[in-house]
Amino acid sequence: MGTTNVKSTQLNYDKYTANKYDRDIVNSIPFHREIHSLIASRVKKYDHNKAYDVLDLGVGTAITSRIIKDILPKAEFDLVDFSKRMLTGAQKKMGKNKIKYIFGDYAKIKFNKKYDIVVSVIGVHHQNEIGKRKLFQKIYGMLKPGGIFIFGDLVTYRDKHRAALNNAKHFKHLVDKATDEKTLAEWAYHHIFLNDLSPIEDQIIWLKRVGFKVEKKFLQFNTALLICKK
Ligand SMILES: C[S@@+](CC[C@H](N)C(=O)[O-])C[C@H]1O[C@@H](n2cnc3c(N)ncnc32)[C@H](O)[C@@H]1O
Repeated sequence: MGTTNVKSTQLNYDKYTANKYDRDIVNSIPFHREIHSLIASRVKKYDHNKAYDVLDLGVGTAITSRIIKDILPKAEFDLVDFSKRMLTGAQKKMGKNKIKYIFGDYAKIKFNKKYDIVVSVIGVHHQNEIGKRKLFQKIYGMLKPGGIFIFGDLVTYRDKHRAALNNAKHFKHLVDKATDEKTLAEWAYHHIFLNDLSPIEDQIIWLKRVGFKVEKKFLQFNTALLICKK
């Protein structure tokens, strides 16, 4: 059995046009813009003239990688997704120069390269607990010494009251942002039945256990951004 609770076909990303996806992800994920501003600030600390190796897991249409490329124009990117349509969207934003597009399940792909930066934004929460733990180990192994894992995702909390409150806030956001009932139904279904959120407290422990130093950069509602250093 795999470690993800869903197949790529269930996630519907192959049905999206890149433009609609870009609008939907920014609207349906609370603080998507805010975590990207924080990611940009972190990446600006790197030397803009160096050719860093960057890996983006669950790249979607490359919103995050595009931001990184604008800051680090010489970087080389490996972009992974198990939706062909998403990779086509990514290609529109990133072009072909020093960019490799990898189609497949990141949990199964064997990566032979070592990276300075591994990033995943809203791309890990379909993995179950075993999947997340294995993936954190795998990412640690793929990083060069001193490399960082920029990890933005939807999470929950150990404390059930805190989890319920933040879920309620997440759903209020969905209700406020959806343009019609059909969109709201899709977003709500995805969140309730397809997402497999793990408590942030547990995820930080799993990351530390594999060797990362973890900095909590952002945590509001169900949205978290961690910077994990090797
Ligand atoms: C919610 S989207 C986020 C995309 C992008 N990182 C962003 O923030 O706009 C999640 C993406 O991860 C991809 N994905 C999820 N699980 C994956 C896996 N196991 N292997 C490869 N891609 C995966 C999906 O196809 C989708 O494009």
